[in-house]
Amino acid sequence: MATETPGQETQETLSNLLSETRRFEPPADLASAANVTADAYEEAAQDRLAFWERAAERLTWAERWNTTLEWKPPFSKWFVDGKLNVAYNCVDRHVEAGRGDKVAYHWEGEPEGDTRTITYADLQKEVAKAANALEELGVRKGDRVAVYMPMIPELPIALLACARIGAIHSVVFGGFSASALKSRIDDADAKIVITADGGYRRGAPSALKPTVDEAVADCPGVEHVLVVRRTGQDVPVNERDVWWHDLVERQPSEHEPVPHDAEDPLYILYTSGTTGKPKGILHTTGGYLTQVAWTHHAVFDLKPETDIYWCTADIGWVTGHSYIVYGPLANGATSVIYEGTPDTPHRGRFWEIVQKYQVTILYTAPTAIRTFMKWGDDIPAKYDMSSLRVLGSVGEPINPEAYVWYREHIGANRCPVVDTWWQTETGGIMISPLPGVTAAKPGAAMRPLPGVVADVVDDQGESVPNGGGGFLVVREPWPAMLRTIWGDDQRYIDTYWSRFEGMYFPGDGAKRDEDGDLWLLGRVDDVMLVSGHNISTTEVESALVSHPKVAEAAVVGATDPVTGQAIVSFVILRGGAEESEDIASELRAHVAKTLGPIAKPRQILVVPELPKTRSGKIMRRLLRDVAENRSLGDVTTLTDSSVMNLIAEKLPSAKSDD
Ligand code: WT7
Repeated sequence: MATETPGQETQETLSNLLSETRRFEPPADLASAANVTADAYEEAAQDRLAFWERAAERLTWAERWNTTLEWKPPFSKWFVDGKLNVAYNCVDRHVEAGRGDKVAYHWEGEPEGDTRTITYADLQKEVAKAANALEELGVRKGDRVAVYMPMIPELPIALLACARIGAIHSVVFGGFSASALKSRIDDADAKIVITADGGYRRGAPSALKPTVDEAVADCPGVEHVLVVRRTGQDVPVNERDVWWHDLVERQPSEHEPVPHDAEDPLYILYTSGTTGKPKGILHTTGGYLTQVAWTHHAVFDLKPETDIYWCTADIGWVTGHSYIVYGPLANGATSVIYEGTPDTPHRGRFWEIVQKYQVTILYTAPTAIRTFMKWGDDIPAKYDMSSLRVLGSVGEPINPEAYVWYREHIGANRCPVVDTWWQTETGGIMISPLPGVTAAKPGAAMRPLPGVVADVVDDQGESVPNGGGGFLVVREPWPAMLRTIWGDDQRYIDTYWSRFEGMYFPGDGAKRDEDGDLWLLGRVDDVMLVSGHNISTTEVESALVSHPKVAEAAVVGATDPVTGQAIVSFVILRGGAEESEDIASELRAHVAKTLGPIAKPRQILVVPELPKTRSGKIMRRLLRDVAENRSLGDVTTLTDSSVMNLIAEKLPSAKSDD
């Protein structure tokens, strides 16, 4: 690290406590036929822009670019003067190449037996009709279209229709409230909203349309609400409402895809961040599609002819935008889309879907993996998942134990696990193993992908040596990077480009181990300062999860008169583990043994659930409130607000035992 005060020892920016010796070599057959080999790192290091040009050449351009990168920090333009149509690249070109009969999406509704199969030829017709319908509603290039939908085929169709005509979509996750939806509609000044009567969740229809009505009641700029009938439930119909089946179905199934500029906006996606109003992350056309398509090809080793790919995210998050819609379709993949929750109608639903469609590549989140661990090993064991060959993880640091469980119980120890680090802002995957190249370590995102220049720096912005910890930064622009925050260039500069001169700061802590491999350590806002040591919540959580009785853990720093901050842990026990008198001392001793006495939690609370955001990230802010005996702040973004009551009830019994 960084600050060297006279008379003091050099203090690490972020302590590096966890040591991990397990390593998993790529399977030989995968390595010998891999889409991308180790040479790619070399080639990109020699000429990064030429590397990204070759990635861009995988797409079909109406006009080639003149300049690969125009960089006026922190504003970038990629493939300047190039022209292409994203929907053409994702759909039409595959049909023109004779692959119209290939399945683009196997869609699985939540009610069992409710399925649809959509080929590339079907998708071409549906997207053309939807594009014609949007034009009939007066939507033009550059207009904003808000999308608030369940996970039904009309969702990717709506996005592709916008992309086709150059309208900018702004998807708002279907679990958000009317006020969250309204503020996003207002910020982007959306002209129309696309929604559905409802979707299926947890075995029942769950209405969406009433939320939209409430949101747009006071949005004079919204001219129409386009409504898909999905559940058939009774919904109010207002004057500006238009049914999808009335308008879209009668449209011609042909639509000319006009080329757009490489830097024309493709979409806005709001990300909440820790404070303040949501940021409208702006992504553009050519660079974005280049990177999501290339990374999907490289990181998942996608073989479009034979693979069945399933990303379990919701399209309402960036993971769904990049790795359900744009990346896979640009590559001509066959994907699975599932509408519902993993426990409906039973806890084996995901594995049943893997078995049914013979899924070969599965991409999911640590929060889901830890939930499956908690439910027990016997559930996935009932299904035939021998089709799987690559497993991916995204959204949070994956604890080594969760990684090893995923590898063993889902991947039968045959499939490489790729831990992919990226953000809404980066647009595409940035740091990840390559499944045919990397001998991966459980819990590590390993190396920046070819063409990505990431580093770990101390608080002065100097690279830390191997074995050191600090702040993750990106030193060079990348094609899918956000171009700005919608309507607020200054906030873009302040948020991402002001902490370190000339470097992008994503807000995450990281360490570089003795081999030079990267480990993500969570948001720097969550780092704890205990007796002068910066300790990452991720490392303590991973130590707890490595105990056989623990399924999930969340750790926060609470003010402490002696140590500045003290570590308070909330744990969920694994299926079968009993909550005993001395579990707290057992776990404290386990953490001390794994990470050292400095990381020993002051308190351990066994809880039934943890507060999570709707995208599955643990809300440590709320747990800090509990740990410091404060009244709770805003809990409306939680998936289940009753969780906090259950946790608060536990508190009086939470004593430290020495
Ligand atoms: C934040 C971004 C990337 C799409 C979904 C989330 C955390 C994400 C990892 C990972 C450690 C990760 C980071 C990042 N994160 N993936 N593999 N290892 N942390 O997108 O909502 O924009 O969140 O998620 O803290 O900054 P997002």
